[in-house]
Amino acid sequence: MKIGFLGAGKMAEAILASAVQSGLCDPWDVMACDKVEERRTLMEKQYGVIVTDDVAQTVKSCKVLVLAVKPQDLDALLGEVKKLLTDKHLLISIAAGKTLATLKKAAGPKPRIVRVMPNLALMVQEGMSVFCAAKNAKPADKKLVAQIFGSAGSVLELGEKRFDAVTALSGSGPAFFAYVMQAMVEGAVALGLPKEAARLLAEQTLIGTGIYLQHTGMEAGDFIQAVASPKGTTAAGLAVLEKSSVKAALGKTLAAAAARSAELSQA
Ligand SMILES: NC(=O)c1ccc[n+]([C@@H]2O[C@H](COP(=O)([O-])OP(=O)(O)OC[C@H]3O[C@@H](n4cnc5c(N)ncnc54)[C@H](OP(=O)(O)O)[C@@H]3O)[C@@H](O)[C@H]2O)c1
Repeated sequence: MKIGFLGAGKMAEAILASAVQSGLCDPWDVMACDKVEERRTLMEKQYGVIVTDDVAQTVKSCKVLVLAVKPQDLDALLGEVKKLLTDKHLLISIAAGKTLATLKKAAGPKPRIVRVMPNLALMVQEGMSVFCAAKNAKPADKKLVAQIFGSAGSVLELGEKRFDAVTALSGSGPAFFAYVMQAMVEGAVALGLPKEAARLLAEQTLIGTGIYLQHTGMEAGDFIQAVASPKGTTAAGLAVLEKSSVKAALGKTLAAAAARSAELSQA
């Protein structure tokens, strides 16, 4: 089975690198199509995959196509290849805000379609990818998508109506966690820690907390109770968080991101 990437930018590279390096695909079964020569050279040298700037050739050679151009370039790309798409093709779109219905309209009724919302952590094999499939997608298509994106992190299938919330939490979420981290680093520097040390401590504490919660399956609330002994240092800090309505602010943050995702999907 040959996998073609239409667009070989940052996200395509992350997916392709994990798929090849994990042994899921052989490099000679992967075709990276990009109009930028630099990207093609990098893909060829770094991963040994076949490269081209010929979109039609990629569509003819590969039955699985990952659509990895910017959302604003997708309609033109699909318009160019629509007549070449058959019911043997599986389209996997990672374009933010492009719904299954929009994709079907642009690609025509023949190809099977899966929509994926990955995140940037895919680049360090710790991505979170959520997918939904069109009615004509087969169980084998979903399995393949889970394998491809699973080679670069975790994967979950959810109904498309959840995608605005997904976009807010795992799509935009890395920026929100980074925002909290930035504030904690600045706070620690104000307390006298050198910046580099503060950064290391904050990063490792964020990673450690996430892994601990994931491995133990503990609820975040129970974890907080376990760390915060009565009248201790954590309790003193938590009292400030509670008074500052941080929970409410984060709730509003996610709601704003989800509302924007809904707007963009309708554009
Ligand atoms: N970055 C994220 O965190 C993230 C998260 C979730 C989903 N996504 C989605 O991932 C997709 C890719 O994002 P990215 O950041 O990887 O984009 P990117 O780095 O801009 O890569 C896209 C590449 O495709 C090329 N291209 C555009 N139209 C083409 C065509 N018709 N034929 C061949 N190549 C073409 C672009 O060339 P030019 O630069 O010359 O246009 C560029 O090199 C987007 O749809 C985005 O919504 C991104």
